[in-house]
Amino acid sequence: MSNLLDLAPVVPVVVLDDAESAVPLARALVAGGLPVIEVTLRTPVALDAIRRIAAEVPEAVIGAGTVRSPEDVEAAAGAGARFLVSPGTTPGLLAAMLASGVPFLPGVATATEAMTLAERGVRELKFFPAEPAGGVAYLKSLGGPLPDVRFCPTGGITPSNAPAYLALPNVGCVGGSWLTPRSLVTAGDFARIEKLASEAAALRP
Ligand code: 3PG
Repeated sequence: MSNLLDLAPVVPVVVLDDAESAVPLARALVAGGLPVIEVTLRTPVALDAIRRIAAEVPEAVIGAGTVRSPEDVEAAAGAGARFLVSPGTTPGLLAAMLASGVPFLPGVATATEAMTLAERGVRELKFFPAEPAGGVAYLKSLGGPLPDVRFCPTGGITPSNAPAYLALPNVGCVGGSWLTPRSLVTAGDFARIEKLASEAAALRP
């Protein structure tokens, strides 16, 4: 899969406590117009959730987030993740991601990190943590010297600031957890999640 950044304007970043929520949650996000879904490997049920979504919601492009080690890469790929996202990029993690054959968005926060990955032919990156690291102004500045590198900013993105990111030529999509608040997931309020997704899907002008 190429151009992971162009499949949807917003990638929901999901933290799941209960694998039973995975399938209805993914269906709600897809129905709202956001088929690219990142389930973070931060909870014990994450791999099970990815497995279930991969098996039962084929129209979702399910990925794994918070991938931090070669072991995470192997586990996520084995569970059926169709892309991998990391908060930062170490040499060992990069080697494992490249070897996996699974598309990935490695995390960066500086020009040097972005240039190091571009040298390896990786030009679609997660910019993390977007707001604390410098936000829209920072990414705009990177676009001058690094016009061939594109980003998915994540970290502090909201429906209010997302349009300014999405208007940048070096931003393909944004990531965020606002679509799947724990309170709504726990309550099983998937109708509300679908509504949040449809509002987010309309954010790209
Ligand atoms: C993440 O990878 O956890 C993202 O940074 C989510 O950030 P947010 O909760 O600020 O959207």
